[in-house]
Amino acid sequence: MFFNTDKSSAVGLSSLLAFLDLQGQRSCILVLALFFRPLVSQQPNTDGYFVADFLKKMGLTSSQGFNFSAPVCTWQGVFCDFKQENVVKLVASGLGLSGLIPETTIGKLGKLQFLDLSNNKITGLPSDFWSLGSLKTLNLSYNQISDNLASNIGNFGHLETLDLSCNNFSGNIPEAMSSLVRLQVLKLDQNGFQSSFPSGIMNCHSLVSIDLSSNQLTGTLPDGFGAAFPKLKSLNLAGNKISGRASDFAMVISTTYLNVSGNLFQGPVIGIFQDPLEVIDLSQNQFQGHISKVHFNSSFNWSRLIHLDLSENKLSGEIFQNLIKAQNLKHLNLAHNQFSAQRFPEINVLSRLEYLNLSKTNLVGPIPTEISRLSSLRTLDLSNNHLSSKIPHLSIKYLLILDVSCNNLSGDIPSLLLQKVQWMERYNFSYNNLTLCASEFKPKTLKTAFIGALNSCPIAANPDLFSRKAPKHRGFKIAMALTLSMVCLLVGLLLLAFGCRRKNRMWEVKQNSYKEEQNISGPFSFQTDSTTWVADVKLATSVPVVIFEKPLLNFTFADLLSATSDFDRGTLLAEGRFGPVYRGFLAGGIHVAVKVLVHGSTMTDQEAARELEYLGRIKHPNLVPLTGYCLAGEQRIAIYDYMENGNLQNLLHDLPLGVQTTEDWSTDTWEEDDKNGIQNVGSEGLLTTWRFRHKIALGTARALAFLHHGCSPPIIHRDVKASSVYLDSDLEPRLSDFGLAKIFGNGLEDEIAHGSPGYVPPEFLQPENGSPRTPTPKSDVYGFGVVLFELITGKKPVEDDYPEKDGNLVSWVRGLVRKNQGSTAIDPKIQGTGPEQQMEEALKIAYLCTADLPSKRPSMQQIVGLLKDIEPVTHQ
Ligand SMILES: *[C@@H]1O[C@H](CO)[C@@H](O)[C@H](O)[C@H]1NC(C)=O
Ligand SMILES: *[C@@H]1O[C@H](CO)[C@@H](O)[C@H](O)[C@H]1NC(C)=O
Ligand SMILES: *[C@@H]1O[C@H](CO)[C@@H](O)[C@H](O)[C@H]1NC(C)=O
Ligand SMILES: *[C@@H]1O[C@H](CO)[C@@H](O)[C@H](O)[C@H]1NC(C)=O
Ligand SMILES: *[C@@H]1O[C@H](CO)[C@@H](O)[C@H](O)[C@H]1NC(C)=O
Repeated sequence: MFFNTDKSSAVGLSSLLAFLDLQGQRSCILVLALFFRPLVSQQPNTDGYFVADFLKKMGLTSSQGFNFSAPVCTWQGVFCDFKQENVVKLVASGLGLSGLIPETTIGKLGKLQFLDLSNNKITGLPSDFWSLGSLKTLNLSYNQISDNLASNIGNFGHLETLDLSCNNFSGNIPEAMSSLVRLQVLKLDQNGFQSSFPSGIMNCHSLVSIDLSSNQLTGTLPDGFGAAFPKLKSLNLAGNKISGRASDFAMVISTTYLNVSGNLFQGPVIGIFQDPLEVIDLSQNQFQGHISKVHFNSSFNWSRLIHLDLSENKLSGEIFQNLIKAQNLKHLNLAHNQFSAQRFPEINVLSRLEYLNLSKTNLVGPIPTEISRLSSLRTLDLSNNHLSSKIPHLSIKYLLILDVSCNNLSGDIPSLLLQKVQWMERYNFSYNNLTLCASEFKPKTLKTAFIGALNSCPIAANPDLFSRKAPKHRGFKIAMALTLSMVCLLVGLLLLAFGCRRKNRMWEVKQNSYKEEQNISGPFSFQTDSTTWVADVKLATSVPVVIFEKPLLNFTFADLLSATSDFDRGTLLAEGRFGPVYRGFLAGGIHVAVKVLVHGSTMTDQEAARELEYLGRIKHPNLVPLTGYCLAGEQRIAIYDYMENGNLQNLLHDLPLGVQTTEDWSTDTWEEDDKNGIQNVGSEGLLTTWRFRHKIALGTARALAFLHHGCSPPIIHRDVKASSVYLDSDLEPRLSDFGLAKIFGNGLEDEIAHGSPGYVPPEFLQPENGSPRTPTPKSDVYGFGVVLFELITGKKPVEDDYPEKDGNLVSWVRGLVRKNQGSTAIDPKIQGTGPEQQMEEALKIAYLCTADLPSKRPSMQQIVGLLKDIEPVTHQ
């Protein structure tokens, strides 16, 4: 501001010093001396008078805090000559000056050499403006001047710097520019200048920097353009409509910055790579020809190159090898050209790269893992290529933008990468064949960054779920087992005979449970007679078995037959509601559960295969993975990983819980592998702790939350019950049978929706207006609530002793919770193994889940949160 009040002079001084910082110390001292000259008031027709008049008429008032009666040379931004008579420099940038500059104001400052009126709202110049013949620097940038540029500009023969950028100048750039022979910096960018390239400029041989970008210049560059500016360091012609060839501007020998982006240049890129070039931007033109045959000036110093943008041209051939010499390259954009199909270029030596854009460059084959060596990379765009196989883990620390959309990438997205993208500014995995296992991306993100990733089900991963903690019990258990087996060695030996007997008993129990499952499978229960349908499958060796993770193992239906002894009853594990499940060993140590979906559906083989392939890609640590499938005649066969430790139904209700002594479980668990029963009976022991039951509840909730919230569209399980929850070899809970209902057949969907007795939500029992009862995520929530009640009370959903006639678990516990007597329902076997308060809280969660009205039930995601809040402490 212009002022000279005592109060603010300190401020004025400091900003003045800041302004002069660039000018060097000497002028600082000079200006300081001027600043403290005694006051002299303005006389008419003096420079002070003209400046004051200018400022007042442009909208500044004395009320804005400065004193027009003080001598002009003391105002901030005003600099006078030695005699303190004439203003030689006026800086009035960003003062909000607006409108036309009036006549007889600054046009009368005959000695003015430096004028900066940038960043105001000036709309026009007065005619006497062109008499400022001493001007060396004129900066009118960032205003709203919409004149033509008058030929009078030729009067400014001393001009060294001219900055008219960011205005609304239009019309020609006058020929009279040819008089500005001392001009070094010319900035006319971001205006509306038209016509062809101003040939007058060709006379300004001192030019060091030319910026004519973002105008509407047309035509070609004048002949001899390159030779006209021997000192030119920076040339920006971007964003015009200039046509011509690279040779027109290529011979500018001292240039370090060259930008002709967004013009109509065409032909081969020849002779551009001149020695001192650091920045080359030829993007958005029509350059063509074989890029690999680019003629490089032999003296070109690749190591100076920092920025190379050849994007959006019509270059062909392969990406040139010389590029690897550009060791200091930070920005490389070759996107959107017409290169021939090529493998990923070997550019991992360019360790300084911060920006790499190879979008639409016809890349084929895999993304090399070496790309992680580009450790400074912030932006990586590989979209619109034909890149295939897996995405390597990109251990690039600073990556902020990643786009691999529209390729042929497959497999899982590395989970570490998925963790990382959550911190990124932008990422895009859309339109590939990727599997995304995650749940905590927002639906909006799924819809934009993971479009078309899978057959309509982009799934993204909650990293929490991935960092699967090492099983905590294992170390403890092994230590326990070792100690106990030492101590009880003798006892163990003595009990060996009993042990064998016991095992037989267990097998019986298991058999019972299969029968039980058969019972509860209601209308779909059937006596398995594999002989009839196996016979249907004519050429067993010609029916392939697809094992997702091991595509090279050429299994056929014949292998399935031998693995299950021709689907013999002896290998029958269960008869679930979708059909029988057999146990088998495939060659290569693949231990599987083979599920035959007996009731054929209306789906074609192709649709069923697609659906099964899709289910195979849904992975989560708490889901039983689908390993493969086989389409044998009418039968669709789903192949699962075998779950070593049985299901919750068996463990909770069928085996005598808590009756075993420690000896029992040490011997049974560790001595032998029980091929038919539950391999690791230790789980039973664990199942008598609150901590373990909580773990099962949380794991199951996570699996459901993943299906509901991590998949789009959400997957509804439709049959959540204790016998769908398995324990894997690490005793992690895993939910099975998700997504089968669809393959099972549409006609039966409604009946399936009824669910298993005791798990059926009330809305299915009281159909409204006879309308079909569509399963929703909230019906799964109900089923989960029942499982949670089972986990806490140890009771079966139905057919246990309940006080009321026809009573069931849900009505009984809900009644108790309502009366605040929940604690009486807690399974005596887990009482005292954890805080009772937590168990009561868990009952309340199950209470919420089993609300009559679906809308009152929480979502699975909320349930995960609620269960986490009552997670027992991990150390024992
Ligand atoms: C002109 O002023 C603008 C805004 O204050 C500034 O950014 C620009 O660098 C100046 N131009 C020259 C050539 O110094
Ligand atoms: C080239 O100029 C255009 C328009 O001014 C600008 O957007 C672009 O960033 C410039 N390129 C480089 C490399 O500076
Ligand atoms: C890569 O280059 C293309 C073509 O110029 C452009 O459309 C795209 O936005 C660039 N990608 C990134 C991430 O900058
Ligand atoms: C995609 O990749 C698979 C192998 O992963 C290959 O069989 C297939 O031909 C590729 N498709 C295209 C269009 O490149
Ligand atoms: C990802 O790429 C696809 C295909 O180009 C596009 O439709 C989508 O908008 C992009 N999403 C994001 C988040 O950039």
